[in-house]
Amino acid sequence: MVKLQPSCRNPLQFSVFIRIFVTNLSLSEKSHRKHMEKKFKRTLVTTALPYANGPVHIGHLAGVYVPADIYVRYLRLKGEDVVMVGGSDEHGVPITIKARQEGVTPQDIVDRYHAIIRDSMKELGVSFDVYSRTTSDIHRATASEFFRRLYDKSEFIQKTSMQPYDEQAGEFLADRYVVGTCPHCGSDRAYGDQCEACGTSLNATDLINPHSALTSSPVVMKETTHWFLPLDKWEPKLREWILDGHKEWKTNVYGQCKSWLDMGLQPRAVSRDLSWGVPVPVEGAEGKVLYVWFDAPIGYISNTKEILPDSWEKYWKDPETRVINFIGKDNIVFHCIVFPAMLMAYGDGFQLPDNVPANEFLNLEGDKISTSRNWAVWLHEYLKDFPGKQDVLRYVLTANAPETKDNDFTWADFQQRNNSELVAILGNFVNRALVLTHKYFGGVVPAAAPADAENALMAEVRDLKAQISEALDTFHFREALKLAMDVARAGNRYLQETEPWKLAKTDMERTGAILNTALQLCANLAIVFEPFLPFMSGKLLKMLRTDKITWDMLGSFDIIPAGAEIGEPELLFEKIEDAQIQAQLDRLARIKKENELRNFRPKPQAEAVDFDTFAKCDFRVGTVLECEKVPKADKLLRFLIDDGMEKRTIVSGIAKYYKPEELVGKQVCFIANLPPRKLKGIESCGMLLSAENADGSLVLISPSAPVIPGVKIG
Ligand code: 2FM
Ligand code: ZN
Repeated sequence: MVKLQPSCRNPLQFSVFIRIFVTNLSLSEKSHRKHMEKKFKRTLVTTALPYANGPVHIGHLAGVYVPADIYVRYLRLKGEDVVMVGGSDEHGVPITIKARQEGVTPQDIVDRYHAIIRDSMKELGVSFDVYSRTTSDIHRATASEFFRRLYDKSEFIQKTSMQPYDEQAGEFLADRYVVGTCPHCGSDRAYGDQCEACGTSLNATDLINPHSALTSSPVVMKETTHWFLPLDKWEPKLREWILDGHKEWKTNVYGQCKSWLDMGLQPRAVSRDLSWGVPVPVEGAEGKVLYVWFDAPIGYISNTKEILPDSWEKYWKDPETRVINFIGKDNIVFHCIVFPAMLMAYGDGFQLPDNVPANEFLNLEGDKISTSRNWAVWLHEYLKDFPGKQDVLRYVLTANAPETKDNDFTWADFQQRNNSELVAILGNFVNRALVLTHKYFGGVVPAAAPADAENALMAEVRDLKAQISEALDTFHFREALKLAMDVARAGNRYLQETEPWKLAKTDMERTGAILNTALQLCANLAIVFEPFLPFMSGKLLKMLRTDKITWDMLGSFDIIPAGAEIGEPELLFEKIEDAQIQAQLDRLARIKKENELRNFRPKPQAEAVDFDTFAKCDFRVGTVLECEKVPKADKLLRFLIDDGMEKRTIVSGIAKYYKPEELVGKQVCFIANLPPRKLKGIESCGMLLSAENADGSLVLISPSAPVIPGVKIG
């Protein structure tokens, strides 16, 4: 197995990266423009296949599916020939590990999650032309044939090497079946192929204390034979294709490819000793399957075949087809180096991707999203908790998309963007235009009569259209969405300036002209937002009683004819209340607690003490007579304790966890014979006993039934 190089490990390397990125920025823009001039006849959009070992979450959506869907909807609106393929990645160790954890078969796991993923993405409006799976017959046959052709063309090297093995289980340990300590960041949960904590790609042999995820036994190395794709053979072609030919790629993608290529490529194993997967289709390969990263990208081909059995080749082999791979940043090397090398080795006219717009990661409330830690907003749960609010999620994930750096999803931001942007800007404009038309013109579109204000508005919308198109063409979806919102902002400003509700008292003709323009702008909003908010767009078009829209029509102001009747106004967006947000935050707090509990490891036992030493410590119970915050000390509470002798003062650092008034009258335990200590000028005579939770929070220790103040503990 070859070692996958991380992008940048030391500060020196990092500064090199920055320089590459900065120089590349202007080059990338120029090159993008040049690239866009090349005309293609059709586009094939592929979306990374999610592992069917769990449902999809907001990280998957923000990274891959929402941007891909925006792009595809935009191309469709432009009338272009585009096909969007996706499906579940149903092989590989993540699936078999999950099956073992649950005591079910891998097939049970993928059947369950494939259905959840497929249905929830459909409900979110992700408009796949096909969403299939890598356990389909067509995929197994396609992947098998792909391997066989490379084998027959002698494109593989067969190598015998030592691989991790679990003697107790009698199995080889592929990829994630080996766990251990990451040599880079020290995390003790690193896998044999990657450390999730720091993102470094690893070999099982890189791990410190590698052990089996199956039985926890230490890993031993055992000889086995595998097929390797010599990536080094394709290095010159890959360099030329990416480094010279695709300077327009996103800087994160280009930079990662350059780093890999500069470090030199090596042969990479494409088979594994596992029972779950596509069997290696050659003699003497019993018990071996294709490596999941060999079979999964071939899924893009099989899925296209499935939907277009007669014309799929046109979408893969015609140089006038443009292939775009939407992926997350952890998939860059496989899509830009490994899969292209496979396609080059296969030959037969397969086109390499024209672009690979990879996003960075989305975090959740400041923490890395994680399927195993359940730290995620799951799409199928969101759809249940927020019925009818698909567009709100699409909006927030795009407005905050991790396009150039990791970003954070917070529920507060979600609520704020819904209430202050979707409701207050977009919904408000449309509602005003429709309500006023009903109020003054009985819902009949009045005649147009453009004057200066209208001409200025039209010019602004046309200018925005040019900018939005440019942003969408270059995969800047966040920017495109912001500009689309500017169209709605322009509408609100227009109504604010022209004030048709005032003019209606004196000049109905001018009022009508303004409302005609406002309604045309509503139609423009339905067009410009269709890629981003397709449910809103559909609802708005229904209210406007129009349906045929194209991107070309964006910027025209004669979309709805004068004299036509429009439907009743309905609210496009509703306010999201604090209680709904609090419920989500409470759920996350519960999960955090559960994780802490699961990960809790007691501190090692302290050194032994003899009984006499212990007996010297005077532990007692007392009753709290007074308790108050210590001024200018966030953590401290001052207690006056009835200790059965004289009253005593104790200062304790638990202010974060208790309200002082709640403690008065309670019994507490304390050690009485410590020397007094001054804390914030107060003499503390003793120390309260408390237990420290996994998260560092403190809980006071009390007797389980009332006792007389001053009794000893022992
Ligand atoms: O990282 C992942 O979730 C992989 N299942 C992505 C596969 S993308 C493609 F190659 F199929
Ligand atoms: Zn690490």
